[in-house]
Parts: sequence; C-alpha cells; structure tokens
Amino acid sequence: MIIAVDGPAASGKGTIARALAKHYGLPYLDTGLLYRAVAANVLREGLDPAIEADAVAASNFDDELLADPVLRTDESGKTASIVSAHPLVRAALLQRQRRFARAEGGAVLDGRDIGTVIAPDADAKLFVKATPTIRAKRRHAELQASGSTVSLDKVLADIRARDLRDMTRSEAPLVAASDAATLDTSFLSIEAALKRAIELVDRQV
Ligand code: C5P
Repeated sequence: MIIAVDGPAASGKGTIARALAKHYGLPYLDTGLLYRAVAANVLREGLDPAIEADAVAASNFDDELLADPVLRTDESGKTASIVSAHPLVRAALLQRQRRFARAEGGAVLDGRDIGTVIAPDADAKLFVKATPTIRAKRRHAELQASGSTVSLDKVLADIRARDLRDMTRSEAPLVAASDAATLDTSFLSIEAALKRAIELVDRQV
C-alpha cells in the first residue's frame, strides 16, 4: 500500500504522514528532507541555489546527511524551495523516491508532488492544507520554542513566499492530485486531524 501525503509548509502533513506510517506499519519518507539536503550542500559549498548546474552538483549525497539538524533550519527550507524548482534537481531525486515508494509492502511519503508525479498510482492520496495565518502561527510557536525571536509577520511572509514559489514553478508545482482527499487542518486538533486522516485513507483503500 502506497500512501501519498502532499501539502504546503506547516500544514500538518509531516505529523499526519508519520502517524499514518505508524498506524499502518509502513516505512515513512519525508521527501522535503531530500530537497533540504541539496540546499544544505549548496549553502555549505557556497554555491548559488538559483543556478541549476550548481544545485545539480549538490544533489549527490548519502542518507546520513538526512539526519543532520542543519536540514531543519528555516534557511535550509527556504533554499530547498529554490533548488527544488530546477527540473534537473527533481530528476536527480526522482528514482530515490520511487524506489522507496515501491519497496515491497508499501510506504508513506510526504511532500509536494507525491500524488501527482512520484506515485500517481498511490493507493491513497491526501492533500493536507491550512490557512497561511494558521500555518505561520504553528511555525512561529515551534521557532519560539527553539529559542528564536523571529516575528510572526516575518514567518507569515516567508510562508507566503514559499507557497508562491512552490505553486507557480513549472515543474511539479504544489497542487492537489485530482483524486486526492483534501484534509483542512486549520481548526482541527492534532488528534482530530489524525482520526480524519485514517478515515480518509481507509475510505480509499
Ligand atoms: O516539506 P519541506 O518544508 O521540508 O520542504 C522544503 C521544500 O522542498 C519545499 O518548500 C518545496 O519547495 C520542496 N519540496 C518539493 N517537493 C517535495 C518536497 C519538498 O519541491 N516532494
């Protein structure tokens, strides 16, 4: 069973995808980490994320890098959304994701284009969303908890900029697959969102 979970930054898709993986006993891949790994390499090497050849040169990495805390920083996330717009970077990461998705027994993958490009044949597809303001408040609370003093306005502006880049790129833009079930987490507790996600998956498989 392949479960595809897509949606914008801080929509709750990661929490939901991880919980689904646990519930159904499937391996889980956060595909955003792959783009974040490319971004971290670009930043470390002093390359330009806007130049496709630079980003492609940074696309070869071992799985160990995926556990590096530097991938979780806002700078890595922002740079990831720049490198991820390059078709050759997406091509470099495609097989890795498909191999994971098609491993025996199935998998849960979350990202932006799982249901549309990576696994269009997924058994269940969720598109997780929430209003930009609510997503910004969630991200702001996380950042504050980790000691950051960044303002809510700045976090909201960053989220809007990232949404715009992810939704307007020509290659694999962030869009719900036509056969995905939409889950709006704006006014749901985590528990309620997880319950609903399981209902929506069970209905599709
Ligand atoms: O989900 P996360 O915030 O970690 O993703 C970082 C960036 O990587 C996103 O803003 C998006 O541009 C890119 N991404 C993507 N396709 C995916 C996963 C992430 O383009 N499947």
